[in-house]
Amino acid sequence: MEKTFYITTPIYYVNDVPHIGHAYTTLACDALARFKRLDGFNVHFLTGTDEHGQKVEKAAADAGISAQDFTDKVSQNFRDLAVAMNFSNDDFIRTTEPRHIVAAQEIWRRLLASGHIYLDKYAGWYSVRDEGFFTESELVDGKAPSGAPVEWVEEASYFFDLSKWQQPLLDFYAAHPDFILPETRRNEVISFVSGGLRDLSVSRTSFNWGIDVPDDADHIMYVWLDALTNYITAAGFPDITSDTYQTRWPADLHMVGKDILRFHAVYWPAFLMAADLPLPKRVFAHGWWTNEGEKISKSLGNVIDPYVLIETYGLDATRYFLLREVPFGNDGDFSSQAMINRINADLANDLGNLAQRVLSFVGKHCGAAVPTPGTLNATDHALLARAESLITRLRYHYDAQAFHRALEETWEVVGAANRYVDEQAPWSLRKTDPERMATVLYTLMEVLRHLALVTQPVMPQAMASLLDQLAVPASARAFTDIGAAGALAAGAALPQPVGIFPRYVAA
Ligand code: MSP
Repeated sequence: MEKTFYITTPIYYVNDVPHIGHAYTTLACDALARFKRLDGFNVHFLTGTDEHGQKVEKAAADAGISAQDFTDKVSQNFRDLAVAMNFSNDDFIRTTEPRHIVAAQEIWRRLLASGHIYLDKYAGWYSVRDEGFFTESELVDGKAPSGAPVEWVEEASYFFDLSKWQQPLLDFYAAHPDFILPETRRNEVISFVSGGLRDLSVSRTSFNWGIDVPDDADHIMYVWLDALTNYITAAGFPDITSDTYQTRWPADLHMVGKDILRFHAVYWPAFLMAADLPLPKRVFAHGWWTNEGEKISKSLGNVIDPYVLIETYGLDATRYFLLREVPFGNDGDFSSQAMINRINADLANDLGNLAQRVLSFVGKHCGAAVPTPGTLNATDHALLARAESLITRLRYHYDAQAFHRALEETWEVVGAANRYVDEQAPWSLRKTDPERMATVLYTLMEVLRHLALVTQPVMPQAMASLLDQLAVPASARAFTDIGAAGALAAGAALPQPVGIFPRYVAA
């Protein structure tokens, strides 16, 4: 049977310019999507924009244009970011698209028909920034727990009977211990749900920018019910008998930031159970970045612009840093010093230098062709075996979204290869034992090939360049090429080597 993998990012609010937080969530998904493709999965990687709601309506009004024109314009910023970051998403969904409006209205009909939605009146606090409802007791100093201002709202509203889903949700979490990760976040969700759930207001009447509630023109759908449904829209819902839906849904992974976990791990599964649809397999909540120790905010003016990072440090170095520096799931601090340290130590020094030394020596002294190895000794075999077996460990780490661990283990092999070069000193074998020299260099090139193959998901361009320099054909760069299957052919001509990771020198 074909192996499939459906992975989603949150859909981004279009009122913001894309910043590091948006780039980070999608980057993690991109690395995982690329890993799975190289590992033979049929991957569907979805991202997009969340375009309805009061927040976007206000932003459009402030810009003096219609909400539709506004979203058309700013949604493009997120597509542009995807290109700039080299994201490999297969689809980009906008909640203003007809396919999504059809799906959102259909899930509404299902919830209504099954008796889980009823008409009443809402009176309470609302935070436009979070697009969330709060009770008096949830407020902190008169604000939402996120610090966002709240306003009093009183209006006719449809409600979803969330309170009835407490036990089914707790049962589901218990039966699926990996549904919410990391574990600390899972515990937070369980304790929140254990504390009891209130029915949720799922329609609004006081503004217009949203999807119409079917058969009641006075109401629009609550933006989170609308937005969460994007994940099934892109899987082909409501056509649930289609091949597309059958192969994609349920999703393998919803990647989200910790701030929006509750919507994904409580509301969304409850909506799906009530609509009699299967639940996604996992929701992973990652942490938040601060900037040089400070919370990132527009008002502090310290928002990190991904374009500036790419321009300053290079795309792949930025991708590497974001996934290597912080244990995935934890909060992390961005500092330019930490970035520079990673670039100069891990990339320029450890991997870059290794590749450069080996390739330029082979270029000069082995006729710019893959050397013909003699018999490999135990040391050569041991190093090669480490490089070849990395994939088993990496599968495990990628499946746990532990990107930092995957890179850490990969760099342990980089370290072992550097020690091997020092010990074997191929440069001094040139005159004394050329056959042994060829064997050592061949072993090193094979190790480099494996390092490049498994690091492609994080640094696709740099690793493509390294594989080009090793004369690995484009058709031999999947994980099935690990080991003897894709071994470098002795005698194959090599191109002129070029550095892959320049040292960062402050301007
Ligand atoms: N529109 C909703 C999601 C709907 S999904 C059905 C939304 N959008 S958002 O644009 O505000 O945020 C999107 C993502 O960016 C979230 O996963 C959030 O955690 C992430 N980040 C925003 N700032 C961040 C940091 N400073 N650090 C890391 N990620 C952060 O929420």
